[in-house]
Amino acid sequence: MSNEARNVRGRQVELVRYPDGPLRREDFRIVEQRTPDPEDGEVLVRNTWCSVDPGMRLQMRRVGPAGYFTPFELNAPLAGMAVGEVVESRADGFEAGDVVAHAQGWRDYASVPAGSRGLGGIGTLRRLDTSVAPPQAYLGILGGPGLTAYAGLLHVAGLREGDVIWVSAAAGAVGSLAVQIGKLKGHRVIASAGSDEKVALLLDELGADAAFNYRAGPVVDQLREAAPDGIDVYFDNVGGEHLEAALDVLRRGGRVAICGAVSEYERDGAPPGIRNLFQAVSNDLTLRGFRGSSHVAHRPAFERDVAGWLRDGRIHYRETVLEGLERAPEAIVGQLAGDWTGKVLVRVA
Ligand SMILES: NC(=O)c1ccc[n+]([C@@H]2O[C@H](COP(=O)([O-])OP(=O)(O)OC[C@H]3O[C@@H](n4cnc5c(N)ncnc54)[C@H](OP(=O)(O)O)[C@@H]3O)[C@@H](O)[C@H]2O)c1
Repeated sequence: MSNEARNVRGRQVELVRYPDGPLRREDFRIVEQRTPDPEDGEVLVRNTWCSVDPGMRLQMRRVGPAGYFTPFELNAPLAGMAVGEVVESRADGFEAGDVVAHAQGWRDYASVPAGSRGLGGIGTLRRLDTSVAPPQAYLGILGGPGLTAYAGLLHVAGLREGDVIWVSAAAGAVGSLAVQIGKLKGHRVIASAGSDEKVALLLDELGADAAFNYRAGPVVDQLREAAPDGIDVYFDNVGGEHLEAALDVLRRGGRVAICGAVSEYERDGAPPGIRNLFQAVSNDLTLRGFRGSSHVAHRPAFERDVAGWLRDGRIHYRETVLEGLERAPEAIVGQLAGDWTGKVLVRVA
């Protein structure tokens, strides 16, 4: 037993109130506590990177969407994906020094049970192959966001030859990989994001054929301009006005992979309805929501493909790194405001 594994004290990020309206830094506090010692079947992990995910905002509601991950308790550690190093192992298959991913982030240390399903299976404790990519890549391009983009485009949207694809929130973790997979598979890809700098990234770095800033004018007008003959697949990260625009512009037999609805996460009460849903009838459209965690079975193929594309320099990824656990609140506040680009990470130590 290592000395470090006894009386380990660490910080954790807690929510102190369920926000009304946009999340603020003051809705959180950082508390230092003694970390429970690992029991049989557990490993003690020192977290090094924590993932910042917009879906966590839905768990910061008193009552979250039915069927989604349960709301966070107030004045208790928040949880999210993390990578770290095993300090002490009391679980078969893990040893001190292993680099692992798990679902007890937003704190310095965690005693993590091996084998128990975290975040629908995507956060179950596992050892990482850091010869492929640095550990934090397993929170982004090689982690949940990457799997979500991969599965959403290849298994949910059901790509067909010649499909024209639109990806929204395309400069973010999920969107930026969805754009690039669309291009790698030979499609025309339209991408959108919330600033001119992000639009430049979509065109110059990610290889989108056309891109627009949704803040610069009505989404439907800009989409029509980018896709005068219509689109076949919409990878929806945003919902609301973006989804309505897609419904207007999708061609017969078009498909929507509903990945997220970030435009609604900070809203109080029910969001306004989608006003043109009848377009789904008019044009034989398929709208299919999905969770990346429901596609964990595709992870081996996903990791093989994406690791290969990374190795060959065929895809790129960006990270926004905030230094220090104490900056985790600022990281998610900024993420929801669109301040950051690529995968948003907090480097713990
Ligand atoms: N289904 C799943 O299993 C699954 C898994 C992971 C993520 N997701 C969803 O996928 C989406 C992207 O997640 P991510 O992790 O890659 O985050 P991200 O895109 O890196 O960050 C969120 C981005 O959303 C954009 N945004 C915020 N408010 C917006 C608004 N009102 N209208 C339009 N865009 C807005 C911002 O970019 P701009 O500057 O472009 O506005 C922001 O950078 C989210 O909806 C998330 O919930 C789903």
